[in-house]
Amino acid sequence: MKRSNVAFATMSLLVAVGAVPTVVACGSDEGGSLANPTSDTSPTVPTDPGGHRGEDGGSVQGNGPGHSSGIPCDVDAILAKDCRSCHGASPTAGAPNALVTWEDLQAGAKSEPSKKEYELTKSRTHDDARPMPPPPNTRLSASDQAVIDGWVAKGAPKSSEVCGTSSQPSGDGTEPLSCNPDLHFAPAAPYEMAQNQLDQYVCYGVDVPAAAAKHIVAFAPKIDNKKIVHHVLMFRSPTAVSGTPTACSAGGSLQWSLMFGWAPGGKNMYMPAEAGYPLDSKATSHFVVQVHYNNAMALAGQKDATGMDMCTAAPRKYEADVVAFGSMNFTIPPNAAYSRTCTLTVPQSMDGRTFVAAMPHMHNLGTAIDTKLTPKAGGAEVDMGGVTNWNFQNQYWLPVTATAKAGDTITTHCAWKNTTSASVKFGENTEDEMCYSFTMYYPKVTAPLFSWMTPSLTASCK
Ligand code: HEC
Repeated sequence: MKRSNVAFATMSLLVAVGAVPTVVACGSDEGGSLANPTSDTSPTVPTDPGGHRGEDGGSVQGNGPGHSSGIPCDVDAILAKDCRSCHGASPTAGAPNALVTWEDLQAGAKSEPSKKEYELTKSRTHDDARPMPPPPNTRLSASDQAVIDGWVAKGAPKSSEVCGTSSQPSGDGTEPLSCNPDLHFAPAAPYEMAQNQLDQYVCYGVDVPAAAAKHIVAFAPKIDNKKIVHHVLMFRSPTAVSGTPTACSAGGSLQWSLMFGWAPGGKNMYMPAEAGYPLDSKATSHFVVQVHYNNAMALAGQKDATGMDMCTAAPRKYEADVVAFGSMNFTIPPNAAYSRTCTLTVPQSMDGRTFVAAMPHMHNLGTAIDTKLTPKAGGAEVDMGGVTNWNFQNQYWLPVTATAKAGDTITTHCAWKNTTSASVKFGENTEDEMCYSFTMYYPKVTAPLFSWMTPSLTASCK
């Protein structure tokens, strides 16, 4: 039986995908070697010649050709390049404010009303704990930072320069796939978010009927309503889940296993050339798409039908899978900083596995998480992904290059700061905590009773 929310074109797909084993690219705060999805879009092309704002903006004009926004052009170019993908005239991805006109920058900040937006523009671009732009976007270059700092130091004076940049977002980080997407997931009906709801996790299921054996080899999120979509996860589920979007817990159900995740600034994912996620050729495959919504602007009547486009291909050499390192076994005492170090001795069943990407996951009290592999044979520790300034609002895949041998140890360190007066344990709700590093690897372990949770359940913690 074919469900309405999956469109599966059974055309044969011969396009070679990703000759290099690419995973979703994630910049580091230090501006490392990875592609920055937003800064490569410059120079910004004017796409809003009228210079008027989106339907949610006021009457203030943007800085299209012929208009001055009041912002000096050197500052404006930086905001256009690095900020307006979220802080455009109609802010997206949970950003609470536009950074388009001089008036926008003179307004009181939402998070700190005693400060002006231009003051926070300076402090947040310097803030290593809560940086703007948020990861995985690359931080401002030193020269761009100097331009912002210099203008703010003068009190952010109004300029009459006409710059011709756009008030529109310069790109959302999601590009068309280089393969031919032939599998499309969408909710059975759009989800409508209540105006007074700030944060919401919503899930819908998609069933793919049994067909010829195939692997999913690339993912591209189809973000519908950028004003409220904060991040998207996709899971495999052992059972069917309703196709109608319904509230669910952060991170999904423990029965589901993670396949892909996207946050603003993240990119499409191409699986490594020798691995893919299988579609069942004998039974229906069940999947779940989880969308985290954030209605920071308290907009009315926001609907969304975010989905996922994928490419399928003839089965690759290996099945890919995701496991979690870390633990469920911790109790964070009230009003205290606390950390837990959990070590797994790699079992024979995981011998020779190649790890390609990691998405660390904690909730709001988390401060840092990292995972390292220590070879039994000696030699250097291998980084398996870490976040030194954990921010629940920004979760993304980190590239990993590691191969595990039986007897190696994989150690995950999680740190929290419990600001509540109750102790906090592991759990699926946002008020509970987690210590997981979801890690994509291949070939999938087929040992009986092995699940994505096994590495975390069998780790010993102290
Ligand atoms: C990927 C999306 C994204 C990009 C790009 C981005 N921001 Fe943000 N920004 C957010 C989100 C989400 C928030 C709200 C959560 C928070 O404060 O961390 C925010 C909050 C802010 C705030 C606080 C606003 C208030 O009223 O409290 C400032 C100031 C800010 N950003 C400045 C910037 C600047 C300057 C840039 C570019 C150098 C930038 N941001 C780039 C998403 C983004």
